[in-house]
Amino acid sequence: MNKIAVLTSGGDAPGMNAAIRAVVRTARFYGMQVYGIERGWDGLIKGQITELQNRSVSDMVQRGGTFLKTARCPEFVTYEGQQKAAQTLEAFGIEGVVVIGGDGTFRGAKDLSDNFGIKCMGIPGTIDNDLAYTDYTLGFDTAVNTVLSAINNLRDTMQSHDRVSLVEVMGRHCGDIALYSAIAGGAEYILVPELPYDLDEIARSLVKSKLRGKTSNMIVLAEGAGNRDEIVKYLNEHAGVNIKITHLGHVQRGGSPTMADRILATRLAVKAVEMIKDETTVSSAMGIKGNKIIAVPFDEVFKAKRTFDEELYSAQNILRK
Ligand code: F6P
Repeated sequence: MNKIAVLTSGGDAPGMNAAIRAVVRTARFYGMQVYGIERGWDGLIKGQITELQNRSVSDMVQRGGTFLKTARCPEFVTYEGQQKAAQTLEAFGIEGVVVIGGDGTFRGAKDLSDNFGIKCMGIPGTIDNDLAYTDYTLGFDTAVNTVLSAINNLRDTMQSHDRVSLVEVMGRHCGDIALYSAIAGGAEYILVPELPYDLDEIARSLVKSKLRGKTSNMIVLAEGAGNRDEIVKYLNEHAGVNIKITHLGHVQRGGSPTMADRILATRLAVKAVEMIKDETTVSSAMGIKGNKIIAVPFDEVFKAKRTFDEELYSAQNILRK
C-alpha cells in the first residue's frame, strides 16, 4: 500500500490530534504517502483532501480537538454517499483509510470496506467510552479529568455553604464518565443509564446524612440517566434540600489530552498503520484490552456486548458515609 488517508468523524475527542500525528509519522516512516481528509466522511465525499508531511503535524500532540475538523454526515449512511467517497479515493489513488471516531464512524468504515473493497482501520475516538470491544476509547481519560476538576471546585464551595450539588455529565447512553468521575471525586451518588435508581431512597439518604451531621453531598448524573430538572425538583421536595445544578456540557470535549490519552493515541495509531500496510489483514478497529493493543474485525466490533463495571459502582455504597 502506497497511499493512505486519515480522517476524524463524529464528535471530537481529546487525543485525536495526537492520533493523526502518529498516523502521519508512522506512514511516512514506512515510506507511504498520507493524506488528511477534512470534516470526516463529508469532506471525503466533497474531495477536501490534502497531502500531509511530518511537519504538518508538528506541535499537535498536546492540542485538544482535531485540526482536520469533524462532522456528522447523514449522506454517508447511503450507498450513493459511499460511492461518491469511493470515487474520490480512487481519483487520488488512495488505497486505505484510517478513521478516528466512534460507533457511527466505524459503521461507515465497515460499509466502505464491504461495499467498495477499501481497507479501513478504526481508532476509537470518543469521550463516551461506549465501545464494548475495547477497555478504553480515546478522549475518555481527559474528559473524566475535566469533570473531576469541576467536581473538586464544586466541593469547595458546596462544603462552605452546606449545600447539595448535582453535576450532569456527558456520555450519551453510557455511564462511564459519570462512574469514573464520581468515584475519583468522592461524590456520594451516581446516576447512570445502565442501572436503576430509586429517588425515594436517595431522598431518604440525604435526610439521614443531614441528621448524622453531613451537610454537603454531591450527585453525579449521566446525561442518559434522566432529566436533571425533574430529578432535582423531586429531591428538593422530598429531602427538603435546595440542590445547585451544574451542567458541564461541551467543556468536557475540549482540552489538552492527558498523558494516558496521548500514549493511547500513539499506540493505537502505530498499530493501525502497521495493520493497513500488512496485506494479510482485514479492515478492523484498534482497541486496548488489559493494556495490550488489539485489532478486531468490524463485524465482531458490532457484536460485542458492553458491560458496566458494577463492582466499581457498588464501592460507592461502601464509601458514602
Ligand atoms: O459522543 C460524544 C458526545 O459528546 C456525547 O457525550 C454527547 O451526548 C454528544 O456527543 C453531543 O453531541 P453534539 O456535540 O453534537 O451536541
